[in-house]
Amino acid sequence: MFSCCLDAGSTGIQIAKAFGAKKIITTTSADNFAYCRALGADQLIDYKSTDWWNVLSESSIDVVYDTVGQKGTGDRAIAVLRSSAYFGFYVTITGTKDTLPSLACTCVGHGHIQVVG
Ligand SMILES: NC(=O)c1ccc[n+]([C@@H]2O[C@H](COP(=O)([O-])OP(=O)(O)OC[C@H]3O[C@@H](n4cnc5c(N)ncnc54)[C@H](OP(=O)(O)O)[C@@H]3O)[C@@H](O)[C@H]2O)c1
Repeated sequence: MFSCCLDAGSTGIQIAKAFGAKKIITTTSADNFAYCRALGADQLIDYKSTDWWNVLSESSIDVVYDTVGQKGTGDRAIAVLRSSAYFGFYVTITGTKDTLPSLACTCVGHGHIQVVG
């Protein structure tokens, strides 16, 4: 899971934890690491010093939850999403056409990845 710390992100961490997520990965500034860990995050990425797309392996993530909305996030999310019949969710609450995956229609068409936003 990719998210961030406050409001929408912290809610996402708690919901993921409550539903039994095995590993929750979140981006936030280092100042908020302890807060996010207390909510249930297992791996923290300081977005000010590290780009999450350089840290996460391809096809390693079941759900990407985007509360930031940076240009290019959708395509980067598709690269790390696990492709299977049940997993591969990219959820955005703040996306624009610049943040959505450019291959969204192709992926949905093949039934491997669902794009929600
Ligand atoms: N569609 C909906 O229903 C809905 C509902 C609520 C909110 N939203 C939208 O969702 C977005 C987030 O809302 P929010 O209330 O959670 O915002 P927020 O409380 O301002 O939180 C923003 C978070 O993003 C982190 N952040 C900032 N820049 C980042 C970057 N480049 N990479 C990674 N993380 C970064 C910040 O981390 P640090 O504090 O550690 O720096 C902060 O925790 C907003 O655009 C809002 O409009 C949509």
